[in-house]
Amino acid sequence: MCGIVGYIGKREAEPILVEGLRRLEYRGYDSAGIATLTGPHLHLRKRAGRSADLARFLGEKPAPGHHGISHTRWATHGPANDTNAHPHLSTDGSIAVVHNGVIENYSALKRQLQAEGIVFYSETDTEVIAHLVEQHYKGDLVEAVRAVLNLLKGTYGIAVVSTNHPDLLVGARLGSPLVVGIGEEENFVASDPTALMGNTQRVVYLQDNQMCVLRPGNWHILDANHARIDATVHRIDWDPGDAEKGDFEHHMLKEIYEQPEALENAMRGRLSDEDCSAHFGGLNLDACALRRAERFIFTACGTSYHAALVGEYLFEEFARIPVEVEYASELRYRNPPMERNTIVLAITQSGETADTLAALRESKRKGHHTLALCNVVSSTIARETDGGVYLHAGPEIGVASTKAFSNQVAVLTMLALYMGRMRNLSSLQGSRMIKEIRALPDIVRRTLQCHDQVKEIAQKYHQVSNMLYLGRQYLFPAALEGALKLKEISYIHAEGYPAAEMKHGPIALVDENTPSVFLIPSGGVADKVMSNLEEIKARGGPVIAIAPEGDDELAKHVLSRADEVVFVPQMPDYLQPLVAVVPLQLLAYHIALLRGCDVDKPRNLAKSVTVE
Ligand code: G6P
Repeated sequence: MCGIVGYIGKREAEPILVEGLRRLEYRGYDSAGIATLTGPHLHLRKRAGRSADLARFLGEKPAPGHHGISHTRWATHGPANDTNAHPHLSTDGSIAVVHNGVIENYSALKRQLQAEGIVFYSETDTEVIAHLVEQHYKGDLVEAVRAVLNLLKGTYGIAVVSTNHPDLLVGARLGSPLVVGIGEEENFVASDPTALMGNTQRVVYLQDNQMCVLRPGNWHILDANHARIDATVHRIDWDPGDAEKGDFEHHMLKEIYEQPEALENAMRGRLSDEDCSAHFGGLNLDACALRRAERFIFTACGTSYHAALVGEYLFEEFARIPVEVEYASELRYRNPPMERNTIVLAITQSGETADTLAALRESKRKGHHTLALCNVVSSTIARETDGGVYLHAGPEIGVASTKAFSNQVAVLTMLALYMGRMRNLSSLQGSRMIKEIRALPDIVRRTLQCHDQVKEIAQKYHQVSNMLYLGRQYLFPAALEGALKLKEISYIHAEGYPAAEMKHGPIALVDENTPSVFLIPSGGVADKVMSNLEEIKARGGPVIAIAPEGDDELAKHVLSRADEVVFVPQMPDYLQPLVAVVPLQLLAYHIALLRGCDVDKPRNLAKSVTVE
């Protein structure tokens, strides 16, 4: 979703701003723009499309200067075109603004400004900010921005420059992340520290209602009362190399292949043979308080929601605690009765998803203890939750989440073990689980060997228009995730369903052009799933089966009925989603490639959805 990069210092701003935007591309956007300053001159360049289109335009018409702001826009108000791209200017052209978030009262403000004779050029909510800053400007840019912030309702991360202040860059945050990067005789602002990689490792995360005031040689942070505060400077320890593609053609493929290592990182130091349990440093809840928990609410969006659904099965089986899984966008506006001892657990890769953050805040407001599973260190949710667990998946750049999903499920499995050991799991059961969990990285490594076979299957089916993904129990959320992956990056309509539920509707879609991907479990309900498979075959639907190795009888049966069978290593049911999801990720990847889709940056999607 939208990205901001700003620079003030002694170097040429343009290459720094454009490179910063390139680093933010993964978040999803549909236009890009830049404004730089040389003395009283402002150089504005904007283009619909990719940051490469903007870079080409800058090749023809450079933006000189040592000071500027830039932006990637994900359209909310008005289509993605050159005019609606940020930065937006005040009428006299002296003030330029970039903005992430949504100004909810923009139409009232716009009407008011229009009544005063101000002409608007764009359809965006952001343009009101530029005009308002000009109106309030009386020689002090910081003061003018502060006055305008008081008029805005909604969310924002903004950066503002003015031709009247060749040595000043002002930023502010409410609900949309902003980080200050500190350099030598130069300073930066960005919506995501990734944009600053290669320039500085020292950052200050702005809190809501704070402003930052940057000059080449100094910077300070102001609180809501306009008082200077002592801000904590953090050091980013991610290796910039992590965010590059290396030998892989796409970030998504690289991240699929990183899953074994990511899982090792998620487990490191968290499994204890001595206690036959797991340990977590940051829950900020002692064992007694956890034992008192009567219910968990897991809340999340997108892929993280699917991980939460696997977590529900895990918690109920091993910890014997009731769990409800809620879309964060629903939970934030619902008012469900929640017992006092309910813990709300937010699950999020980015730690910035607007709905998940709002659901977490609402739960805190009601006095519930909140926990979060986050990947991005020091993200807003990571900072606001009462306690939590980092996923340690490393930077995930591909918009379609892969390794973050696996680590979310792995962390939920270890949490279920931890909670279970406090309640009803014996030490023997705990040790067995530890052994099984520890085997995961190698099992996933082995599962990746299905790659070539899945690629061939993709060749055969990449022209279909609909696909069904069917699984039961632990493999039901994996089916949902497989369908989501395909939808996101190949634009093929796909639905995930509990295999038996398919009889209540989706079976009407089945014909020889609608393949069904069946996730076959190893025990328990395997026979039931095979009956569902027969029902699809009986109606002429092609079947792609993902089946466990090691059960000859089952293998024979699947081979005789399915059109394609991908055998994957067999794990206990509760770990099988982490194995089954691998061929599903690869299938979506190859189908999308064959259809000529932009795998890492699918249309209309954003990596981190920071608007409601
Ligand atoms: C967007 C992304 C998805 C992601 C979802 C939730 O829709 O495209 O890949 O699963 O947001 O994001 P989060 O960062 O909260 O896990």
